[in-house]
Amino acid sequence: MQLPKLYKTLIALGLAGQVAAQTPLVVQVNKPKADVQPTMWGLFFEDINMGADGGLYAELVKNRSFEFTTPLMGWRESRSTKSTGSVLVINRADQPANPRFLRVKTDGEKYGLINEGFRGMGIKQGVGYDFSILSKNVEGNLTLKLELVNGEGQVLGTASLPLTSNDWKKHSVSFTASKTEPKAKLNIWFEGKGTADLDMISLFPKDTWKNRPGGLRADLVQLLADMKPGFLRFPGGCIVEGYDLDRRYQWKNTVGPIEARKGEINRWNTEFKHRLTPDYFQTFGLGFFEYFQLSEDIGAEPLPILNCGMACQYNSGEVVPVDELDPYVQDALDLIEFANGSTDTKWGKLRAEMGHPKPFNLKLLGIGNEQWGPQYIDRYVVFEKAIKSKYPNVRLISSAGPNPDGEVFGFLSGKLRELKADIVDEHYYRSPQWFMENANRYDDYDRKGPKIFAGEYASQSKDIASQNNKNTWLCALSEAAFMTGLERNADMVHMASYAPLFAHADGWQWTPDLIWMNNLQSYGTPNYYVQKLYSTNKGTKVLPITANNEWVSGKNKLYASATWDEPTKEIILKLVNTSDQAQTETINLEGVKKLDSKAKRWTMKGAELDSENSFENPKQVSPTEEELAVKGTKLTLTLAPQSFSVIRVKVVK
Ligand code: AHR
Repeated sequence: MQLPKLYKTLIALGLAGQVAAQTPLVVQVNKPKADVQPTMWGLFFEDINMGADGGLYAELVKNRSFEFTTPLMGWRESRSTKSTGSVLVINRADQPANPRFLRVKTDGEKYGLINEGFRGMGIKQGVGYDFSILSKNVEGNLTLKLELVNGEGQVLGTASLPLTSNDWKKHSVSFTASKTEPKAKLNIWFEGKGTADLDMISLFPKDTWKNRPGGLRADLVQLLADMKPGFLRFPGGCIVEGYDLDRRYQWKNTVGPIEARKGEINRWNTEFKHRLTPDYFQTFGLGFFEYFQLSEDIGAEPLPILNCGMACQYNSGEVVPVDELDPYVQDALDLIEFANGSTDTKWGKLRAEMGHPKPFNLKLLGIGNEQWGPQYIDRYVVFEKAIKSKYPNVRLISSAGPNPDGEVFGFLSGKLRELKADIVDEHYYRSPQWFMENANRYDDYDRKGPKIFAGEYASQSKDIASQNNKNTWLCALSEAAFMTGLERNADMVHMASYAPLFAHADGWQWTPDLIWMNNLQSYGTPNYYVQKLYSTNKGTKVLPITANNEWVSGKNKLYASATWDEPTKEIILKLVNTSDQAQTETINLEGVKKLDSKAKRWTMKGAELDSENSFENPKQVSPTEEELAVKGTKLTLTLAPQSFSVIRVKVVK
């Protein structure tokens, strides 16, 4: 058979089966456009999917202060047949934040309490564990015998702790685990005869992030730090709003000594009938101080989102009358004082007492989460007026509702434009197709309007909030394509974050999520690696990248964006080939005299479009790095089918 001439040539070039692009891509390096904001790529944290308690917050004891709706949830008694030991749950009036404690009475026979942890306790061989308890002797003297045990009852670590005080006092002891176990339990045996009052029973690993006692899981924070995120949005998400106003998130309940933080049921506990999580509560051990500290640790601008007098509109939808908003507005003003105020102020003083006299330098504040309707605008303006008159430099984030289009979105966008809002938060949980088709979403946005925060987005493999959604390569690829449009429009789009951030494999409500964990392990999804490639290759200025004078945004299923990085004098290219054919691209870097002869290239590609990462194969879909030879001021490269590439090439004199 006679092969057509072109095909023969392609074989000779090793390009058979590939689409050879006809038109070179042109990057105008000499025509830099808008600044890429340092905040461009950030993180959205919400305590959903056991993201905080049972996840990032490294406490291993579930229901440590007996404040869950069922006071002994997570606990059970264990005894010999002869024992008459008992517990009584006492509710005191003088400590409204932490009213309950346990009165334990024992007669010298074997009697104890077992805590099951959050789907067990992840214990690591050789790691030290800090146990602590608040206790008060009522009668006699008890000694606690502590045991970490596995499913077979094998003891993996043990310690003794005499309870010595007749007044409430913290008692502590540390010990080392002899074996690794993902689902250990904690036995607390009461030795001796007597009665004691107990509260705040806690067990933390010593190997927390920065080895902070009572701190955060180091593996999870490391995954965040590795992204070099521009901001950290916290604490959500719908959790800010609460099912009703009573159960809204109140930051003041989350600061100060941990035993004085008033817990709350987690609104995700009952949200999805198909994913009920009856033991999901918020202890607020990870509270606003810790969120600010975490932001600082990972170099991210803190972005708290506050309740604006509206409960979740998917739930009760309750609102506070506009003329009764004062306490809500005051919470916002006090938060700014907590973050930035001098240590002479009430809230600045508390920050200093908590260990951070220096201000946290808060610059961004969200008013409400995913709110909508005229009731939102009515409340937003009250906050805006009060905050801007006292703190004109704090930039406010306002809500465009839960959808990226439609009547609700149109109404809010219009109103917020009229109000000259600073930054509007748009959310899109949509199909991979939508993400690819909407990469040009911001190309024609009104440049005079508010800046955009793509505050929550994730490509949904099945349907929004479906429990069958997966973190597939196709979803990540479609996000990579969409993000070229965010980057190209960095004059408008100042911030973006994938949502949600964390999910515990044994306790999730919502999928997909950026990072999955169990009690011992964690891994980034393909989506994580896409986010990381963007945020660690941000650049400082947008560079135009075109083909035939048009943006590269979907034609031939190819997407591209480019930036200039002033500190390193590098051109950064992002190229997303969503077609099932390889594409060979020539890229002309205009306005450059000389390039380094070697460029760096990272490529991501899934074996299949539905490839995922897993605990067993955590980096199955992750970037591979290689060197790329550069000749003159042109790059020629082949983009594998359905792949994402990032290239950094240095301009030299
Ligand atoms: O990210 C999960 C949820 O999606 C958020 O809590 C909410 O803001 C959105 O509806």
